[in-house]
Amino acid sequence: SAMSNIGISMNILWHECPIQKLDRQHLLQQKGCVIWLTGLSGSGKSTLACALSRSLHSKGKLTFILDGDNIRHGLNRDLSFRAEDRSENIRRIGEVAKLMADAGVICITSLISPYRKDRDACRALLAEGDFIEVFIDVPLDVCEARDPKGLYKLARAGKIKGFTGIDDPYEPPYSCEIVLQQKESECMSPSDTAEIVISYLEKNGYLR
Ligand code: PPS
Repeated sequence: SAMSNIGISMNILWHECPIQKLDRQHLLQQKGCVIWLTGLSGSGKSTLACALSRSLHSKGKLTFILDGDNIRHGLNRDLSFRAEDRSENIRRIGEVAKLMADAGVICITSLISPYRKDRDACRALLAEGDFIEVFIDVPLDVCEARDPKGLYKLARAGKIKGFTGIDDPYEPPYSCEIVLQQKESECMSPSDTAEIVISYLEKNGYLR
């Protein structure tokens, strides 16, 4: 509530404007939410984010992608891949995603987000149901064989330290809204996986 947000010690007040989330959602004919993609480097997060954005856009829905790689060039340019910095990366992007959802936007985040506690903290920022965690469950050996940026090779050679999946952990969700699993030997097509996420949104009233 507004009252609980009054920061007495810092003399910071919370401003309420009469135009609220519901008004913006009515205007946009959609429900703001966060689609949180998580998975190893090379698992296809960015590709899925883009396929989702295209498909939703063509249905007249406003989306915005927060991509780890891109945001690390701007807002998060001060952060490394040490555990504390990864957590701070996730925390900031979680806060920005929350603002976007409040704006009525379907916000898609595309970060490895390897630590469970960081993802859970972002979930806790949002209203029940508005945080949709999507685990892209592609095995390490498949990601490593793809190695689109050649980073796994560098990590194996010891030229990158603390690479996720090699010498830094990835903690899969215990439970999440959607798990996208790769079937034996066949690749998941981005438009098929996007369709799975979009039917979830439809079923749960996010597209009206
Ligand atoms: S995190 O863990 O969520 O803060 O990472 P993220 O912001 O998503 O950035 C991941 C991309 O950064 C590149 N990269 C690394 N990834 C993992 N570990 C280390 N040490 C590392 N160093 C650089 C890598 O290209 C990731 O790209 P994606 O898009 O995930 O393939």
